[in-house]
Amino acid sequence: MSNGYRVAVVGATGQVGSLMLAPLRERSFPPREVVPFASERSVGRELEDGMMVRGLSEDSIRGFDLALFSAGGSISGEWAPRFAGAGAVVIDNSSRWRMQEDVPLVVSEVNPEALAGHRGIVANPNCSTMQMVVALKPIYDAAGIERLVISTYQAVSGTGRQAVEELLDQSHALLHEREISPPASYAHQIAFNALPHAGSFAAGEDHTDEERKLINETRKILGDSSIRVSATCVRVPVVNGHSEAVNVQTREPLSPERARELLRDAPGVSVLDDPAAALYPLAIDAAGADDVFVGRIRRDPGHERALDMWIVADNLRKGAALNAVQIAELLHAGSLLSARPAGTAAA
Ligand SMILES: NC(=O)c1ccc[n+]([C@@H]2O[C@H](COP(=O)([O-])OP(=O)(O)OC[C@H]3O[C@@H](n4cnc5c(N)ncnc54)[C@H](OP(=O)(O)O)[C@@H]3O)[C@@H](O)[C@H]2O)c1
Repeated sequence: MSNGYRVAVVGATGQVGSLMLAPLRERSFPPREVVPFASERSVGRELEDGMMVRGLSEDSIRGFDLALFSAGGSISGEWAPRFAGAGAVVIDNSSRWRMQEDVPLVVSEVNPEALAGHRGIVANPNCSTMQMVVALKPIYDAAGIERLVISTYQAVSGTGRQAVEELLDQSHALLHEREISPPASYAHQIAFNALPHAGSFAAGEDHTDEERKLINETRKILGDSSIRVSATCVRVPVVNGHSEAVNVQTREPLSPERARELLRDAPGVSVLDDPAAALYPLAIDAAGADDVFVGRIRRDPGHERALDMWIVADNLRKGAALNAVQIAELLHAGSLLSARPAGTAAA
């Protein structure tokens, strides 16, 4: 590969898509050209570096080596196979392809080997799952995992830009003793509240789709369907950065000290764990950072083979945009992307 890849970013004007543009150029992935796509509303808009937003059409999607998607499940369902059919490898941020058997679901630090079997589409996991498995992988390798009990405290940026604006508008109104507008992004007021309802309930379901994603995606990424998972996903009035309280029951005994050592050596993880000095991961510190932060690592007094920990990361970065770019880097390093010479269209 001599002159780099031609890369499409679909959803380039969104929260996740816009965060992929700089790392694509600045990290070790070699793009020849980056082309931003978004909805018809944004076509013709000029982004950083003078890049012009394009619309999706049979013609405009031809000639790409790689396509990074973050435009929602229905756009991925329709356009990812078309990009793949036109010769690109697609890395998709939506939930549309994640559980499909022939689609690798990859976290760069955890299961890069799954990329070898890709058939044109690779899925990026759900943000809460992503940050958790980065921290769980060294524990899984050292002692196995029998059961997880997870409570999430998820930021509103995980719902989209409109939800961030709603949180800020509601907070402003309430602080000025004004009535808030009827909630639009969530079933209830999110400002000064905690909603045990992150994601949505399908008819007859007692778990949200977000909770099901945590259960199913964790097993797929760790390649172990025997792990039992209990999940409660809660939306909290935090702008960015998901926090998670995770109880990990291992197969073999593992001390908190050994877990701390393993995590200190793990790629993509920072341990912040000195509670007496009020040092533990915080969403406001994780926002804008690439690492997954882990702290409050301690023995569960209720079980001799269980540890409790607190895991925090920027849901838009490691939870979405950064991992997508890291997958692109892995595809490049493993010769799993084939660059077409400049100027050629897809077959
Ligand atoms: N937010 C997170 O923490 C997170 C984490 C992991 C995965 N994800 C997933 O990533 C995706 C995007 O999330 P986000 O928060 O970045 O959403 P967002 O800020 O609402 O951005 C959505 C993007 O999709 C584009 N889009 C909408 N309709 C389109 C169409 N018909 N054709 C082409 N592009 C279209 C939008 O373009 P316009 O600007 O023109 O409307 C925008 O660029 C979702 O699937 C989400 O589930 C999000």
